[in-house]
Amino acid sequence: MRIGIVGSGMVGSAAGYAIALLGGASEIVMVDHKPELARAQAEDIAHAVPFAHPCRLLAGDYAMLEDAVVVILACGVPQRPGESRLSLLGRNADVFREVIGQVRAVAPGAILLVASNPVDIMTEVTLTASGLAPGRVIGSGTILDTARFRTLIGEHLGIAAQSVHAHVLGEHGDSEVLVWSSARAGTETVAHFGTRIGQPLTEAARARIDDGVRRAAYRIIAGKGATWFGIGAGLARIVQAIRDDQRAVLSCSILTEAVGSVRNVALSLPRVIGREGVLTTLAPDLDAAEARALERSAEILRDAAKGVVG
Ligand code: 2OP
Repeated sequence: MRIGIVGSGMVGSAAGYAIALLGGASEIVMVDHKPELARAQAEDIAHAVPFAHPCRLLAGDYAMLEDAVVVILACGVPQRPGESRLSLLGRNADVFREVIGQVRAVAPGAILLVASNPVDIMTEVTLTASGLAPGRVIGSGTILDTARFRTLIGEHLGIAAQSVHAHVLGEHGDSEVLVWSSARAGTETVAHFGTRIGQPLTEAARARIDDGVRRAAYRIIAGKGATWFGIGAGLARIVQAIRDDQRAVLSCSILTEAVGSVRNVALSLPRVIGREGVLTTLAPDLDAAEARALERSAEILRDAAKGVVG
């Protein structure tokens, strides 16, 4: 199974590395407008393969994406310190419009997996430019924020992040919604479990976790210029779900018909992902404040997309 990655910077190469380590593909093709960068990343990742699963690393032009099952779009400019994801929109939309036609020409059957920010709106740009069905244009969305949320809840409660069932929904960005009301530690609500073990999720604890999730990218970018390991693993997780037709429930972004009163906006909800992309969406269990916050997040995305998508 061939996976293409367009954009061989930190996010694209971290995705390639994570896919190689997880055994997510038999062939990974790296493409970049700087061919020497794509070649160098492919060669470097190839040297990790003997420690992992058999996989061929290739670098080249768009023609080499032929027959790719998934093409990850990680091209465009990243955030600078202090910059919001939404501020990248104009620049990255231009890059995407150029790239998508070239990808579609050689890999018409590929699912497009969007990683560049602002990822929800770039997902809409990709959907419009590609003409694909909505379930085949997937933005990584809040898969990463959900991982951050589970990590911090798990640390607070002293349990594995993998045993925390909780989601971050809406925009992958400042207006995202941390769904506390239905978050569970195994079988118990996190609120009950925390109180029972003497680690209550007080307002202060929740505020600290909220900040830890919502501001993570800003902190990491201030410290090292960009984020790449978390998103690389998240992209690899989506690729695995597609490759193995896992029907895994993952929070990610696709065009969504209605979020409260907002229609046709791409944002993250829990989606069932398999071989054909997003197969269905699960209705999140939200309290009234979370439902309002999700609708507000949808409004923000709809307003930001105006004039760019279409
Ligand atoms: C992140 O959240 C910057 O969107 C990227 O790590």
